[in-house]
Amino acid sequence: MNDASRTSPDSPPLSPSVPPTLQWLGTPHTGYLRLLDQTQLPLQCRFRDCRRVEDVAEAIRSLRVRGAPAIGVAAAYGVVLGLQAVRKAHADAWRSAADAAAERLAATRPTAVNLFWAVDRVRKVAHDAAASPPDERLQRAWHEAKTIEEEDRAMCAAIGRHGRDLMPDRGGVLTHCNAGSLATAGDGTALAVIYAAVAAGKQLHVYVDETRPLLQGARLTAWELLQREIPATLIVDSAAAWVMQEGRVQVIITGADRIAANGDTANKIGTYMLAQLAHTHAIPFYVAAPSSTFDLTRNDGRDIPIERRAAEEVTEGFGRRTAPRDIDVYNPAFDVTPAELIRGIITERGVISPVEPENIRQVIGQSS
Ligand code: MRU
Repeated sequence: MNDASRTSPDSPPLSPSVPPTLQWLGTPHTGYLRLLDQTQLPLQCRFRDCRRVEDVAEAIRSLRVRGAPAIGVAAAYGVVLGLQAVRKAHADAWRSAADAAAERLAATRPTAVNLFWAVDRVRKVAHDAAASPPDERLQRAWHEAKTIEEEDRAMCAAIGRHGRDLMPDRGGVLTHCNAGSLATAGDGTALAVIYAAVAAGKQLHVYVDETRPLLQGARLTAWELLQREIPATLIVDSAAAWVMQEGRVQVIITGADRIAANGDTANKIGTYMLAQLAHTHAIPFYVAAPSSTFDLTRNDGRDIPIERRAAEEVTEGFGRRTAPRDIDVYNPAFDVTPAELIRGIITERGVISPVEPENIRQVIGQSS
């Protein structure tokens, strides 16, 4: 079993045509976080520079940066931004600023556990370093955020390595939402498996669910796969059953936002439906996720908080009203797939299969 920080990335580097999802520019003391603004894709590659905690919180809340691991890395740097302003302050003020930044960022989105995991790591280092000289303590907090970013990149590569053998030599792969490089600091989770399989010579064709209401599949995954020159076809979410019935799909793979101790998995709304369809059509359904997405404090999926988002995302997404003004709307952003529908969870430490509490504890237990 590998420690994530010791896994070495060996997958091909990002295609030069896919800009980095996030990057810290400058020194820890005066630098800032640059995000690829995903709300503008696929029409424009625009960057958003975040110099304050509030900028990062807004970017997470509005999905300029999204995907569980990328949210975690962005939030980790967000805590550092909160500390820059109190660089020379007394230790108590420094600790309070770390707590305030962490709390502000943690209040943005409730489901992806990577967010809480990452801000807690930086907050803890900031607390431990509070009595150190100003430059040293800021450097230590920044270094923790940088480490989270680098670990995430290594975890993506390892997930690709562990998952590529589960892909067919030739055939269709269905994915939902975006679990690619846009959702992480590296090559992604579900898409890293596909990239690694293709790099190993497999001939895959990816079916991309549009992913209503915010179209992460159509806007982001379709774009990312095109940049990487991976053969792909976009389908509306409601075509998934028929595409499976037609025999076009040999395997389904998605990412995850939070995985409970029994393997129940929260991911983008619509994932549970796909897993049920996979079961009906005897198609293996895999989840790919780093250890930072497991939350062993939650016994099962009923304990996972599910984000509800604004009605307007459904009724007038992307600026055009498509439903009557007064209609009631329920817009959960995630659902929970029961563990028994998941053939395996591909992590940076290996594949957990069957998905059972004891197997999860053995692979993930130590770090939680
Ligand atoms: O609302 P989003 O776009 O943040 O939802 C993202 C997902 O559901 C992803 O599948 C998940 O975070 C895994 S990303 C590697």
